[in-house]
Amino acid sequence: MSSKTNEVIERSERWGAHNYHPLPVVLVKAEGPFVWDIEGKRYLDMLSCYSALSHGHRHPRIVAAIERQMKHITLTSRAFYNEPYAEFCEKLAKLAGLDMVLPMNSGAEAVETALKIARAWGYRVKKVRENSAHIITAAGNFHGRTISIVSFSTEEAYRAPFGPFTPGFSSIPYGDADALEKAITPDTVAFLVEPIQGEGGIIVPPAGYLKKVIEICHKHNVLVMFDEVQTGLARTGRMFAFQHEDATPDVLVLGKALGGGILPVSACVGKREVMEVLKPGEHGSTFGGMPLSMTVGNEAIDILVEDKLSERAAELGEYAIGQLRAMKIPGVREVRGKGLLIGIEYEDFIGGAHNVGEELMKLGVLAKDTRQDTLRLAPALTIAKTDLDAGLAAVDKASRVVAAARGK
Ligand SMILES: Cc1ncc(COP(=O)(O)O)c(C=O)c1O
Repeated sequence: MSSKTNEVIERSERWGAHNYHPLPVVLVKAEGPFVWDIEGKRYLDMLSCYSALSHGHRHPRIVAAIERQMKHITLTSRAFYNEPYAEFCEKLAKLAGLDMVLPMNSGAEAVETALKIARAWGYRVKKVRENSAHIITAAGNFHGRTISIVSFSTEEAYRAPFGPFTPGFSSIPYGDADALEKAITPDTVAFLVEPIQGEGGIIVPPAGYLKKVIEICHKHNVLVMFDEVQTGLARTGRMFAFQHEDATPDVLVLGKALGGGILPVSACVGKREVMEVLKPGEHGSTFGGMPLSMTVGNEAIDILVEDKLSERAAELGEYAIGQLRAMKIPGVREVRGKGLLIGIEYEDFIGGAHNVGEELMKLGVLAKDTRQDTLRLAPALTIAKTDLDAGLAAVDKASRVVAAARGK
């Protein structure tokens, strides 16, 4: 490592809290699917900020939209109305086939918003007993890092030393519709679930699961809340992952790519009869719905639609998964995913997918492990096929190097 890289890393470690374990690379520049480090080396970004960079880095249309909006108004608070907000709410509601939108900033905030809406709906509409609303979640979930959200995480690493936890949640095995029906009580107000578990290791549930979830929940007057912070907005080959099964939820949670790879923008989108349970003053955010974020969100959505990025994700994803399987890479237990959300699960002898990530970095490709044994590939949906090919070849090579180093 050169002194320039070292200096930034040392300052970061000295003055910044240690809540991440970054690869030892300092990024200074980015364009499309590529980033450059402080030494001038170029990398193909196959992590894409955990799939927030679906448009690639610094998409020129989004940069231009920001420049235009900066000259007018950027921050208002929701104490007043603003035009980009009105456009955003209408555009996103129609895109999702739902009725109303509540913009926030981070994914976790939008999940918290959904939880509050579900509880309020439970008391005001379903009429469950006071202070007893119950929300079902799935084992292996990842919905963010707030106290309430980690309260229903099943990963000890996310929960340990953060108790006491928020009551009112229970968890069932992911992908198991019968377990869902059994877990419903008279106090159950909602089931919160990811259509594909992202951080959990790119876990795709059995076909028909989402549709079954809707059927069961609606039979028992329970809301279905899909967290599509990671799977949403074209990533899996449909605009929303629930569209693979035509299973529209009551509440949809979005984030990441909604910010066009530039700003944090998230939202809760839902049916009118659910969203309307919130009254003025009961929920809010200083920055949620600000004109600059809404402008970015509007442009981000327009690009996804106009450039048909979901079709592109479907096509390139199917190709990439096929290629990775055909490569018969040593040490790979399984390649799975949908669209350009791909998980490569390694055998134990590899010693964790982070070993492959470190080797990939040397080859000029950035990708990280999720849940120890799985390497996540989530390149920009705008990636050129030749660049994708180069990335896949690098994964093959890096895996072979790690496997050989471990005697296989
Ligand atoms: C499905 C899902 N929900 C929520 C979140 C939390 O989003 P944020 O980190 O923006 O709070 C994530 C982040 O990875 C996610 O994958």
